[in-house]
Amino acid sequence: MKSIKISRRDFLGLSLVAGGAVAITESLFVGLRFLSPRATEGEFGGQFNLGPYEQYPPGSVTPVEAGRFYLVRLQDSGFLAVYQRCTHLGCSVPYDQSSGQFVCPCHGSKFTTEGDVLTPPAPRALEIFQLSVSEAGDLIVDTGTIIERDQADPSQVVYAQG
Ligand code: FES
Repeated sequence: MKSIKISRRDFLGLSLVAGGAVAITESLFVGLRFLSPRATEGEFGGQFNLGPYEQYPPGSVTPVEAGRFYLVRLQDSGFLAVYQRCTHLGCSVPYDQSSGQFVCPCHGSKFTTEGDVLTPPAPRALEIFQLSVSEAGDLIVDTGTIIERDQADPSQVVYAQG
């Protein structure tokens, strides 16, 4: 059997190369992990499946606390996922059932059910999240996709088929 002789110098060189390869591999894994989406379904920043659209009556506002939004079903049956963050300085805006408005507790801005500004200082309408209806008729809200808007507009409303 033949033995392989490696000089001390070669051994040190090989050790450095092997150590460098391990360090590079670890860096790649850490980098890929950092780049991959961290938000999971049902967490803010991820998707929310709110179930069948039929369970939300027209004219209803349903808070989805984990997603920091309100599912709004308008009287004409259209849907909006309204972000609860005030467009003035970012306070959470509760919905006032009695007035049918979003009323910010910080500086008094008021918004319509669609999120339009009724009373400043809020400079623009409440933001909305991307909302879609699956083939099975489930409402899907993506809180990773924020839609900024100056005003509420009928083109932003999502309608379920059928
Ligand atoms: Fe809402 Fe100022 S943060 S009105």
